[in-house]
Amino acid sequence: MNIPLSAPDITEAEIQAVTAVLRGSRLSLGPKLEEFERAVASYIGTAEAVAVNSGTSALHLALRGFGVSENHEVLVPSFAFIAVANAVRFQGATPVFVDIEPQTLNLDPRKLEQAITPQTRGIIVVHTFGVPAALEEILEIAKRHHLFVIEDACEALGAEYGGRKVGSFADAGVFGFYPNKQITTAEGGMLVSNNPAVAALARKLRNQGRSGSGEWLEYQELGYNYRISELHCALGIEQLKRLDSILERREAVAREYHRGLSNYPLIELPTMEMPCRRISWFVFVVRLREPFRAAHRDRVIQEMAARGIACGRYFAPIHLQPAYRTQPHRCMDLMETEAVAPRTLALPFFSRISNEEIEAVCQVLREVTGKI
Ligand SMILES: Cc1ncc(COP(=O)(O)O)c(C=O)c1O
Repeated sequence: MNIPLSAPDITEAEIQAVTAVLRGSRLSLGPKLEEFERAVASYIGTAEAVAVNSGTSALHLALRGFGVSENHEVLVPSFAFIAVANAVRFQGATPVFVDIEPQTLNLDPRKLEQAITPQTRGIIVVHTFGVPAALEEILEIAKRHHLFVIEDACEALGAEYGGRKVGSFADAGVFGFYPNKQITTAEGGMLVSNNPAVAALARKLRNQGRSGSGEWLEYQELGYNYRISELHCALGIEQLKRLDSILERREAVAREYHRGLSNYPLIELPTMEMPCRRISWFVFVVRLREPFRAAHRDRVIQEMAARGIACGRYFAPIHLQPAYRTQPHRCMDLMETEAVAPRTLALPFFSRISNEEIEAVCQVLREVTGKI
């Protein structure tokens, strides 16, 4: 058996599209970039979309767009991918870690307000594992305290809240297209916003701070090379065309896992349905029930790997990472984060996994957890 944790879903149409770019003469900053941006803006429902080379770059550009700098604080979850806090630190600002709701694993709006200080400038709300966060409550708190909100929807392309796509609710939204995502460009990301100034600055900064329409080689700001190539954009355009069917299949995979693991007492399953929200399945993360601890979970991962099944630890809290121990950050009470993180286990999850493979994962998982 050899079942990976994730695998991209690439068809002949994508291969043809990338090959066609290679046969042409524009490999960067060309028509595919514009087409990909237009397609994502129209899908998400925002006025602007700016394509960049990663989700991390998109987060960084959004934070710069909102003027985040030294002595500022930005509220973020610790139960998240590390880029969320790293991007805040790129600007010399301090990430403040706020706890999550145990059911959705997203920022708990009831815990946000007590983290706000005069230094707080904004909130990065992550739609973790494709589950929409409590947007209404969070946006209301942000409005009352004059804070910006960035929706980190890197794991949630296609997820909906009240019938509207996530990424379109806040001051800016970011997406990532790494190969384990719902759609991939191999590497890539997108900043979406209804704020033309934020989008214009991001366009300039992704290309070394160069003015779009002005003088050739005139640099108006300290920028970066966050450009994405035409090859990546061509891949993204084709993938986006198949997104609806990919999301349907991913939901079916989640249902199949539910069927295979329901009524198994040692494992808690993720919620399939939530009122007013459509989940865009990114990963399938189960929780080992108490009294399982991190050491048991890690043994389960090892034993599954020995049987040819790759599982993962999603997520190790950011505030416990070596890169954060000695660096400026602030932690609120992170009781739920620290209780949940050691027991989470990501199972193989991708649109092309077969039902037989899912059944095999469930069977081996029952065997392995049963004897630990
Ligand atoms: C929540 C979240 N934010 C940001 C990122 C960063 O995206 P990238 O790896 O494209 O830089 C990821 C990537 O997995 C993510 O899951």
